[in-house]
Amino acid sequence: MSKILTASLDWVDTRFPLSKLWNEHLAEYYAPKNFNFWYYFGSLALLVLVIQIITGILLATNYKPDAGMAFASVEYIMRDVEYGWLIRYLHSTGASFFFIMVYLHMFRAMLYGSYRKPRELLWILGMFIYLCLMAEAFLGYLLPWGQMSFWGAQVIISLFGAIPVFGEELAIWVRGDYVIADATLNRFFVYHVVSVPLILLVLVVMHIMALHQVGSNNPDGIEIKKNKDPKTGIPLDGIPFHPYYTVKDIVGVAVFLIFFSAVVFYAPEMWGYFLEANNFFPADPMKTPEHIAPLWFFTPFYAILRAIPDKLTGVIAMGASIMVWFLLPWIDRSPVKSIRYKGGIFKFALLLFVISFLGLCYLGMETPTPTKTLFAQIFSFIYFAFFILMPWYSKWDNTKPVPERVT
Ligand code: HEM
Repeated sequence: MSKILTASLDWVDTRFPLSKLWNEHLAEYYAPKNFNFWYYFGSLALLVLVIQIITGILLATNYKPDAGMAFASVEYIMRDVEYGWLIRYLHSTGASFFFIMVYLHMFRAMLYGSYRKPRELLWILGMFIYLCLMAEAFLGYLLPWGQMSFWGAQVIISLFGAIPVFGEELAIWVRGDYVIADATLNRFFVYHVVSVPLILLVLVVMHIMALHQVGSNNPDGIEIKKNKDPKTGIPLDGIPFHPYYTVKDIVGVAVFLIFFSAVVFYAPEMWGYFLEANNFFPADPMKTPEHIAPLWFFTPFYAILRAIPDKLTGVIAMGASIMVWFLLPWIDRSPVKSIRYKGGIFKFALLLFVISFLGLCYLGMETPTPTKTLFAQIFSFIYFAFFILMPWYSKWDNTKPVPERVT
């Protein structure tokens, strides 16, 4: 039996670099030996990506991208298709969990300075993935053709109209009509199921290739490639990804699935945070819902938009609040990477930033009042100050010496 297997593998290897890929990316990919909890979220994001693709394909077999049929086709999936309810809840819960995984994954990079040299491109690719995910979620949300699908898209697309000179034309071009209509639904469906996922997949492959080119960072921010065994060339503080981290990641997957299934089976709507109540009513262009808010993963940016009274300035601030993330590798000028060796100023700044981000996330879901708007303005100010002042406070901060080796 083993002879047959070896011969088959040889046959494949002479025609396709299967063993080479396995070794380069798993069995002989040396990762730092000190990965912790925060290193689960990359592989978990990968898992959710697979869940989304499989459930998405299954949903598409029964969904109808037609303004007259879309809402009913989703209800049909929920009630009549065998396990349709499960497939849909896996997909809708998957969307929110995708963002939870990605936000924790990005936060890890902030904790350990994983965006710093030589991982700038890895970070940039990650940011493009993040933009694609936002686009994917926005496009997908129109498909059930419920009230929030319709009015959420209406609010966001109308923002293009705030751009001077060509804004209105641009909004019509995006919608394919003067209002959100069948043409919009049809094109959003195509972008959601074909265009964006293709780009996303290519970006994820590039992301992992870039990671394996430079090697993983770690909670100490020590470059393990600097200390190699002179004979073997293997990093002294590295361990093979397989079996050590494949086994560790399986533990992460098991824990993840417990939380994920709990939501899918017991609280798929998450009290309106994952699926909004208003979206169980079919889209009605004649009836604007009283309260329109995007899903939670967009609300920090939505709160920034609403905090600024002038529409155009608000749109610019919202765009800037996402784009500034791209600059992190260059604005963090600390001599050390990891928060473990950074000083009090950076830690305090990061804490304020996290509070502001969560505060904006909450406020973006709420109906604005003067007090809430004031808080949104304060949090927006801190949000931007965190990035704008980073070149200075990260440089002035008192840092501790980084050990030579992972201990
Ligand atoms: C579909 C979404 C994503 C997938 C599947 C993904 C996948 C991965 C995987 C498997 C790793 C290695 C394991 C780990 O470090 O956890 C990784 C590392 C990394 N990712 Fe992502 N990622 C995604 C999105 C992002 C985003 C949005 C960013 C940032 C904007 C990002 C930034 C990074 C960085 C900086 C590392 C290196 C971390 C280190 O070595 O300390 N990733 N990613």
